[in-house]
Amino acid sequence: MRKAVCPGSFDPITNGHIDVIERASGLFDEVVIAVLSNSSKTGLFSIEERIEMAKSAVSHIPNVRVDTWSGLLVDYCKANSIGAIVKGLRAVSDFDYELQMAQMNLQLKGVDTLLMATKPAYSFLSSSLVREIARYGGDVSSLVPAGVLKELKSRAANGGKN
Ligand code: PNS
Repeated sequence: MRKAVCPGSFDPITNGHIDVIERASGLFDEVVIAVLSNSSKTGLFSIEERIEMAKSAVSHIPNVRVDTWSGLLVDYCKANSIGAIVKGLRAVSDFDYELQMAQMNLQLKGVDTLLMATKPAYSFLSSSLVREIARYGGDVSSLVPAGVLKELKSRAANGGKN
């Protein structure tokens, strides 16, 4: 069984993430979305909320599941017999960061990373921009799944609080 992990903060999951996950699901027997915390980012949604939004967004893909982990990604891969990490590459500006992590993960535990080119239609899309636009009442309906849109609207209505 060929398994891959799509790791990320997913704060929140966007249509760009889903595009990569859908295409990865066609290449592997099982794809796990690993909702992880990034020590250099502060989150809007809790890990539990991100998991619920991700689950709802990929419920149409039978070989995709959602999980979380609080340690190193490579340890998650080893503990779950996952041989590959799949990440989306939007633009050259992503490359340095992604290459550095890919090489570190390879060095740490021999886990390979596949960088998948995102659809050009999503090359400008990021969770952080979605959060900011939604916070100020901008329209992100074409950028995120319906469940995420609902949560963002509810946050904005509550002034960014739960
Ligand atoms: O969506 P992001 O924030 O770009 O994803 C980054 C993430 C969460 C994949 C990365 O920070 C990560 O792998 N965190 C888990 C801890 C870890 O393994 N750190 C070392 C990375 S080389």
